[in-house]
This record gives sequence, structure tokens and C-alpha cells, in this order.
Amino acid sequence: MNILIVGGGGREHAMAWKVAQSTLVDKLYAAPGSDGIASVAECAPIDVMDFQGLADFAEGHDVDLTLVGPEQPLVGGIVDYFSARGLKIFGPSKAAARIEGSKSFAKALMKNNQIPTSHYQTFTDYQQAGDYLQQVGAPIVLKADGLAAGKGVIVAMTMAEAEQGLKAIMKDRKFADAGARVVIEEYLEGDEFSLMALVNGETVTPLAIAQDHKRSFDGDKGPNTGGMGAYSPVPQIPGKIADEAVQTILKPAASGMAQEGCPFTGVLYAGLMLTKDGPKVIEFNCRFGDPETQVVLPRLESDLVQVVLDVMDGGQPALSWSDKTAVGVVLATAGYPVSYPKGRKLGDLSALPDAALLFHAGTKKNGKDWLTSGGRVLLVTRLGDDLRTTRDAVNKDLERIATDDVFFRKDIGHRALEAAEKP
Ligand code: AMP
Ligand code: GLY
Repeated sequence: MNILIVGGGGREHAMAWKVAQSTLVDKLYAAPGSDGIASVAECAPIDVMDFQGLADFAEGHDVDLTLVGPEQPLVGGIVDYFSARGLKIFGPSKAAARIEGSKSFAKALMKNNQIPTSHYQTFTDYQQAGDYLQQVGAPIVLKADGLAAGKGVIVAMTMAEAEQGLKAIMKDRKFADAGARVVIEEYLEGDEFSLMALVNGETVTPLAIAQDHKRSFDGDKGPNTGGMGAYSPVPQIPGKIADEAVQTILKPAASGMAQEGCPFTGVLYAGLMLTKDGPKVIEFNCRFGDPETQVVLPRLESDLVQVVLDVMDGGQPALSWSDKTAVGVVLATAGYPVSYPKGRKLGDLSALPDAALLFHAGTKKNGKDWLTSGGRVLLVTRLGDDLRTTRDAVNKDLERIATDDVFFRKDIGHRALEAAEKP
């Protein structure tokens, strides 16, 4: 088979790395891909929103299956476009991708299907939103209702933060038009985890869980980012909790979508909080998580392409997982997620040992050098026998290639280590 992967970030590099290992694959393409992805796939410089260009490429290169990384093309209808042209693609339709594209759509789905989530209210009026804030108090969470790459969220622990946050979203339009409508929701307290599943209609095939680290600095300090590192499995979240979440969250979501006439096909991602009342939904995404994919796919022993084909045929394939712990740590440009320079030279990436899986996110090759070209630059994953030594080994890898222009969190997995130390 010939496969096309749409996207060019760290998640897509991990997808391409995994797909390249499939015995079913002849030719692997990525669009636009990246200089890093070029080590495993042939890259074509086509924008992820250029559906016609992508479909022309897929036709011209006898692509048998297209996999999509980022949410923007899915929310924009790439699956509908490819399907209309008779091209096979794994992902949700535009209607189904609303589960991520619109927080209010997702909230209504959860309400209609008794899926546990936080209480919330939606506002388009600044004054009314402000009055509601005074009424409910802090801690409280504010979300711009639209895509802001996981960054349109403010978790306010105090009233002052909440008021500033509301102004930033609705008045200053910090997240652009996504701030025309704000969701104000109850703060959920607990351990967060990410549960992804391959879904086709009402059939749900869950993947191993992972835990992301959203805040930029050690100790979960600093602003929310797209994710600074992840690990899988998550020992402090018992297996029965993940099973419960499949039953109370993923399956009702999939059947709810089918009943509403927009069945979901593709990767359904649930960002969950394990509260004292059980797992509750923070958000749904309509695609693989980033950086969760970079630690979950390295643990998957099954052939990803075969698994996707089975799911598309209506099957529920049994997946085989490595017992090892995967830890992935993001190297980011200083200043991320606010503002950051590009084009800074990184250390010698070829110095990394083979055991360090390198997934490029925002890099550019310049002769023999690698330069930064994004906020999240790259991620290194290692598989190991225990979390601490694996994490320490990844930190050493990153120390070898880091410069003054970049930073990374050294405490990925801290919640699991703290939970293990509790008497
Ligand atoms: P989201 O983009 O919705 O995933 O939000 C980004 C991050 O903000 C999440 O990963 C959580 O860490 C945090 N967050 C979002 N909503 C809530 C909530 N209701 N309660 C507590 N934390 C939240
Ligand atoms: N890691 C969170 C996300 O992919 O949205």
C-alpha cells in the first residue's frame, strides 16, 4: 500500500515512524512533512488546508490510505473532500470533528448522553460573562469557544486571574475570533490523563493511556502549552478506571454521535480528569494527541496500518502493547508558548544514541545543522523498565543537544513518582 500522512509536527513524525514499520506499506508520503519526517517518508510541500492539492497528490501517487494528524484539516472537512473524490481516508467528517472544533457542541453531546463533565455556561456577552464569574467565584476555567491549539484555556485559581482572563479572551481577543464566545466551566480537581481510541461508528478500540504535562515549567508552573512531555502507562490511574472511562465516556460519545447523524470515524481523544467522583471529561479531540502519540505509538506492538484497516472494516482488533514505560520530553524554544525566535542552531542531533527516539516538531535543516523553526522543537522518547531511570535518560539526551535558546521540563512523570512514594 501507499500511505499519505497529512501534517508535519511531532505527532505526525511519530505516526510516520510507526507506519514505516508496517509490512503492508510500499511507499510512505507526508504532506507537508518536515526535514525530520523526511528520514522516514517522502515529503511533499502541500499545506494541510489545501485539500485539492492533497487529493491531487494522493491520486497522482496511488495513495491507498490517508491518515491525518492535525485538527484544522479535519475540522475544515478534509475527510468529506477526500471521500467525495473516492479517496480512502481515516478520520472524522466535518460534522463529526465538531466534537473538537466547538466546545459548545461537545458540551451538548455530553449533556444529551449523560457523559460526566464539568458544569459550564456559554456567553457571547462580556458583561453577562463577568456577572456569572462574580456569582460562581474561583477556581474557575475559561475557554475560548473555537480552536486555539490547546492554548485557548485559562485555569484561574483566583478571581483576579479569572477577571484578567475573561478580558484577555473576550475584549483583547488574545485567541482571535475564538474569543467571541466563551465557555466558563467548573474547575475539576484530580489526576489528568489522556485516553485515545480508534473509533468507527459505535465500535471503540481504546489505546493505552498517557499523561501529558500542559504547563510550561517544572512543578506544573507557567502558562498552558500544547504539551511539554508525556508518559505511558500511567501507573497511578488504575486499569479499571480506564475501562470505566471507555464505558461511561467513549462508548456513549460514539453512540451519541451516531444517533445525532454524525457518526465518528477516526481517533477520538478524551482528555480526562480522575476526580473523586470518577473520570470526567475536560475535552474531546478528533485526532491523535500531541505529545501523547509520541509515547503511545512506541508502546504499540501491533501493525498500525493493519489495525486502522481493521477498524475501518468495522472490526475491533486486539492490540498488543509493550510492558515498558515510554517517556517523551519536549524541547521547546525559550519564550514558548508566548513569543519566541526562530532559526536558532541546536546541538548535534546525531550525538543521540539509537535508543533515543527523536521526533521533530519545529526544526529545519541547514546543511549539517538543525535549526529551531517553532515553539515546540522536538521530542525525545525512550522506552525503559521504570519511569524514573527512563525519564533521567531522556533528560540526559536533551542536555546533550540543548542550547541557551531552548528549554525542557525535567520533571515529566512527577505525578506518578509522587504517587508511588505516598505511604
Ligand atoms: P483543554 O484545551 O480544554 O484541554 O484545556 C487545557 C488544560 O487546562 C487541560 O489539559 C487541563 O489541564 C486544564 N483544564 C481544562 N479544563 C479544566 C477544568 N474544567 N478543570 C481543571 N482543569 C482544566
Ligand atoms: N496533548 C493534548 C492535545 O493533543 O490536545
